Amino acid sequence: MEYFVKSGNPEKQRVACIIVGIFERRTLTPQAEAIDQVAGGVIASVMRRGDLDGRLGQTLVLHALPGLFADRVLLVGLGKERNLDDNSYRKAVAASARALSGTGAIDAVSYLTHLDVKGRDLTWNVQQAQMTMHGQWYRFDQCRGEKPAKDNQEPKLERMTFDVPRRTDLPAAEEALAQALAISHGQDLARDLGNLPGNLCTPTYLAQTASGLAKASSGLKVKILEEEEMEKLGMGALLSVSRGSRQPAKLIVMEYMKGKKGDKPVALVGKGLTFDAGGISLKPADRMDEMKFDMCGGAAVIGAMKALSELKLPINVVGVVAASENLPDGEANKPGDVVTSMAGITIEVLNTDAEGRLILADALTYTERNYDPAVCIDMATLTGACVVALGGYPSGLMSNQPALARAITTAGEQIGDRTWELPLWPEYDDHIKSPCADIANIATRNGREGGAIIAATFLHRFTKRMKWAHLDIAGTAWIGKKSTGRPVPLLIQFLLNRVAKQSAE
Ligand code: BES
Ligand code: MN
Ligand code: ZN
Repeated sequence: MEYFVKSGNPEKQRVACIIVGIFERRTLTPQAEAIDQVAGGVIASVMRRGDLDGRLGQTLVLHALPGLFADRVLLVGLGKERNLDDNSYRKAVAASARALSGTGAIDAVSYLTHLDVKGRDLTWNVQQAQMTMHGQWYRFDQCRGEKPAKDNQEPKLERMTFDVPRRTDLPAAEEALAQALAISHGQDLARDLGNLPGNLCTPTYLAQTASGLAKASSGLKVKILEEEEMEKLGMGALLSVSRGSRQPAKLIVMEYMKGKKGDKPVALVGKGLTFDAGGISLKPADRMDEMKFDMCGGAAVIGAMKALSELKLPINVVGVVAASENLPDGEANKPGDVVTSMAGITIEVLNTDAEGRLILADALTYTERNYDPAVCIDMATLTGACVVALGGYPSGLMSNQPALARAITTAGEQIGDRTWELPLWPEYDDHIKSPCADIANIATRNGREGGAIIAATFLHRFTKRMKWAHLDIAGTAWIGKKSTGRPVPLLIQFLLNRVAKQSAE
């Protein structure tokens, strides 16, 4: 699929499909009105017959309208005009993408980008239209046979164009589209990695993917730390998790240094747990398959690095992915085992299923010591408790730096990949006291209360010297049995904002 922006009147388009909106109670948008005029009132009469009244997400395809050069017109219900916000805009765009793929059109021009969305501008409309349609058309067929894979592909459509009101809008719209494309490509990679099952997407596979990315894109360098080197660095927490697996752990380190020499990098650290059976504290069978998604934090880091190198942003960023499996085995961690982390902090492993924080602890120490980052953001499918607390819309956000938390929250609101902050108060520190080691890997007080915060409190022991934020993406990295590629959009918007702020200074 190729995407374009242009500026032109709907009634003059020579394309297979024109997409225009209708507000509730049969109110035509100006573009629908223009078409209705040249076509002799066809749209108005179709609506009078009751086939469409403009409710949000309704769609109707009209063929061969008189006076038009286009083969089809796709009408899209927008809901009430005064309610047109982020959510309804995306819903309408998504509905248009679904309806479009039900047609035989090979190209289309959408005028939904002209809409007046509350508090948003044209560039936002273009960006969101591309990302939403692209997301709708995403397919994962790497695990299907050749023919089923082909059948599952979207039919026909090859070129998608977003119209803008004025020719002078084009440069800004082009830029917004280029950004959206890069984000989409990074997000696709994250989704693919997430969807790929645990027997195929191993730590080694993640490492190979990162290395392949570095070969294909300029300015990206990748280093893979093997278990031997991790041993030398004293990463006893990370290695205790992979000990129970036949798959060797990998620490994937990606450097993108297109910023000023000497500028401290932004560090992105991801949990790349390619399958989480829980270890000796074995998980129940029900929905255990979904633990193939336990590497989605790592996938988002890799996807963000891809988007970043495509955007060629002038910024220094380092991506670190701790990749391992967590399985029960004779060598695996046992409840009560004590391991020593790279930071020298000893950890009592009271539950082997709280493994994400173990591998992240060493990845965070490594990042802090080797890169002294300006800010560090880690992302992990860390706790079921976060899903209970927040559900599936926002990622959980915890930070030791209010300004960083604000910047992340703002970026998420902008691009529609939102977060919600939970407190990281010192009161929680006492809850991970261990009777035997420096800390325990689960709460030793108050049972399962505040589990997402307890996990962040644990990580915070290893990030005290950095400006640091933690994203718990357990509720947002996948929906049903499908990966979302979040929080790639959030990360890129955050970095875009940082670059914009730098150049304004
Ligand atoms: N990867 C899981 C968290 C998870 C569970 C994410 C279900 C999404 C859905 C993590 O490694 C884990 O098992 N966490 C435990 C922590 C507990 C033992 C303190 C959890 O959430 O149950
Ligand atoms: Mn676990
Ligand atoms: Zn896990």
